[in-house]
Amino acid sequence: MRTNQPKTIHLSEYRVPAHLVDTMDLRFELFDNGARVHSTLRVRRNPESSEVSAPLTLDGDSLKLEHVALDGKELAAGDYEDTGDQLVIAGVPEQFELAVVTWIEPQNNTRLEGLYKSSGMFCTQCEAEGFRCITYFPDRPDVMARYRTRIEADKSSYPVLLSNGNPVEQGDLENGRHFVTWEDPFPKPSYLFALVAGDLVEKRDTFTTCSGRDIDLRIYVEPRNAEKCGHAMDSLKRSMRWDEEVYGREYDLDIFMIVAVDDFNMGAMENKGLNIFNSSCVLASQETATDLAYQRIEAIVAHEYFHNWSGNRVTCRDWFQLSLKEGFTVFRDSTFSADMGSPTVKRIEDATLLRTAQFAEDAGPMAHPVRPASYMEISNFYTLTIYEKGAEVVRMIHTLLGPDLFRKGSDLYFERHDGQAVTTDDFVKAMEDASGRDLTQFRLWYEQAGTPVLTVSDDYDPEQGVYRLTIQQSVPDTPGQTNKKPQHIPFALGLLGTEGDALPLQLDAADDIGSAPTERVLELTDASHTFEFYGLAERPVPSLLRHFSAPVRVEYPWSREQLVFLMSHDPDGFNRWDAGQRLAVDVIQSIVGAPEDAGIEPRLVEAYRTLLGDSVLDQALVAKMLQLPSEAYLIELASSPDVAAIHRARDQVLRHIATSLRDELIACYHRNTGAGGYEITPESIARRSLRNTALAWLLMINDEAGRDLAVQQFQEADNMTDRMGALRALVNSDYAAERSRALADFYERFQDDPQVVEQWFSVQSSSDRAGQLPQIKALLDHPAFDWKNPNKIRSVIGVFAGQNLAAFHNPDGSGYEFLADQVCRLDDSNPQIAARLVTPLTRWQKFAPAYSAMMHSALKRIRDKAGLSADVYEVVHKSLEA
Ligand code: TRP
Ligand code: ZN
Repeated sequence: MRTNQPKTIHLSEYRVPAHLVDTMDLRFELFDNGARVHSTLRVRRNPESSEVSAPLTLDGDSLKLEHVALDGKELAAGDYEDTGDQLVIAGVPEQFELAVVTWIEPQNNTRLEGLYKSSGMFCTQCEAEGFRCITYFPDRPDVMARYRTRIEADKSSYPVLLSNGNPVEQGDLENGRHFVTWEDPFPKPSYLFALVAGDLVEKRDTFTTCSGRDIDLRIYVEPRNAEKCGHAMDSLKRSMRWDEEVYGREYDLDIFMIVAVDDFNMGAMENKGLNIFNSSCVLASQETATDLAYQRIEAIVAHEYFHNWSGNRVTCRDWFQLSLKEGFTVFRDSTFSADMGSPTVKRIEDATLLRTAQFAEDAGPMAHPVRPASYMEISNFYTLTIYEKGAEVVRMIHTLLGPDLFRKGSDLYFERHDGQAVTTDDFVKAMEDASGRDLTQFRLWYEQAGTPVLTVSDDYDPEQGVYRLTIQQSVPDTPGQTNKKPQHIPFALGLLGTEGDALPLQLDAADDIGSAPTERVLELTDASHTFEFYGLAERPVPSLLRHFSAPVRVEYPWSREQLVFLMSHDPDGFNRWDAGQRLAVDVIQSIVGAPEDAGIEPRLVEAYRTLLGDSVLDQALVAKMLQLPSEAYLIELASSPDVAAIHRARDQVLRHIATSLRDELIACYHRNTGAGGYEITPESIARRSLRNTALAWLLMINDEAGRDLAVQQFQEADNMTDRMGALRALVNSDYAAERSRALADFYERFQDDPQVVEQWFSVQSSSDRAGQLPQIKALLDHPAFDWKNPNKIRSVIGVFAGQNLAAFHNPDGSGYEFLADQVCRLDDSNPQIAARLVTPLTRWQKFAPAYSAMMHSALKRIRDKAGLSADVYEVVHKSLEA
């Protein structure tokens, strides 16, 4: 809690640590009223530091210091200084042993950083700076120590005691207590430390590595969840195999553990050998988890596992380098998911997230480079830019080098930096050294914020048979950064003939046209390039930025004719989908603010009719193509958006298509129903998606047959995807009686399952029918709502402000005032969550004036709250001052 301005930390001020810690010996005494932490550090002066007489400086936050001794001699109060967030000991020898005892109160820790309690168990979250809430330590990732951890607790309440590494000793103590000692042979930064103590059941399996070692795999959950670990375990084994095959990375310890925890600020955490997960990212059963949840679990299990190499064996020098581990690991998990399912669909999902949310972040007041230059509170920098744009940057290196040189580069990176804490620049350097390519200009992707805009124009010379494409790039200004340089952009493209044939791309007039490829990756490095394509007998239709080959905006004056053509002819599945999105965006934009009876482009309806009848194209792609662009995306694309008008226009288009294609939707529903039991395969996931899309559309037009199908499906579904699909359709319809019956029935059935209750909250808070403000307030008073549980907070407040856009942006400003109230309330108990919830308000400058003035005043009200946390302070001040 603070009253004055938090400090800004600058990358330029980085200094190597003055002291290193070789070993860290920990003993935890866990009690119901607190925990005593005994630590012994072997410290020595860092030979690489020029600060030869620097005092030993240890970070600490909310600790009660009970004892401190240097080389066995207890220090008196005058021998050290306690600054409130640091313990400073001057005049220390070259090397020494420091013993510290602290007392902490995990049972009162609502911030969920450091050691805390969740559903009766003790657990930790140390990334980024949580370890300092446990004991005094140089809490920075370039200080790596070998840990030995002894945990003592009551044996009946906490039979399971876990930490990083291998168990080396255990036994009983007096008073019904017991202990287990763990040893982690790999030096690690403090942010990877973990401890768990609780009454948990373990699910076990084994994995035999490529070199023939048997790894003991364990997932720990509360007893009631024992049957929900199968999918996470299978995902883990697939990840371990994939990392061996694709990156040559073998697991290094003899045991790998995952623990599910209900109260968790993020998705999951890659602590060495002991990953801790938000329960919603591990637990799944056919009856309780949707297909989306199954896919999310597989991706997150893979992500955390992959961190063992990209993050743990090679870690970050400082938090400005966060994308070193996060961008690379997201790239790795995304490729893994593509390999496990449909690559085109995975690419569409990644691009959608990027274009909807990351582009918005990059255009807002918190815009920052993939490698930021400064921050106030590091927790605010676990962003879409660091994760998703960071992954796109790695993907572009992969595209520029090709798969073989990229693999050579990653091998060199892991070999060269194993056991080190390094920078994004070290990563790029390894890629350069292995490939011989110069990535000097490419490095701007790490330094410049903002989404580059490519403006494309073309002309065709029928006499010469030459097609000329001009591509201009510009990188927009962002807070604190102007006049940016052109970036190195891989731009994949193809050209299509009138019949939909892929034309050869002949860049040199003298070349033999027959041997030219039909897809190329052009490399853009200047502000403007003109490319000439020879030997073309007709004006081609360009297929630009295939596979979304760079995280940029492309502007080209497509005609609707061309978009319809690309939708059915582009050999690149991603661009087929993209053409459909562009067409739908154009049609929706053209009726924003138009009268009710404005005509709607018949070619869009016909394109959807074709899709609904298409049984040849990959059905997973068809399912994606049938989704209209989201309101959030339409808002992102608009300048000065009027949210209510965009909402109405999108709804109007949706209803028009559904009304025109009513019979096709019914047929699509039936074609994709029945036949075969429940499976998690791309084919059956696509079938469920098509069926539930058809149902949703039918209920948007209050179709009675649709309503009966939804009620029946809701009652008879044997899996959560279908039950939730039917519930969502009913909730978004005008059938009020069916809606409340289904909601009540669903709650009755699943009230004991927190992950399902979270879905029940979300389906209401995302709906413009069931999620208007009075209903949202009622959800906060519901007995299942819990102000201490981040998942519940996100599923009501986060979903309302982030997904129920028409309700949140109610022109009376009530949505903004509501969000400001909740942020102020949460700022005291959980600042990380509070700071994330503010995000929608921070975009105030983008909106039409009536909205933006009220958003601005809600933000100012948050700013004026007494004792604002550093987390919320940074976000609110940066958005007010931008
Ligand atoms: N390193 C984690 C991941 O991406 C992120 C994370 C988990 C985290 N919990 C956190 C970040 C708490 C900040 C605070 O896999
Ligand atoms: Zn991560």
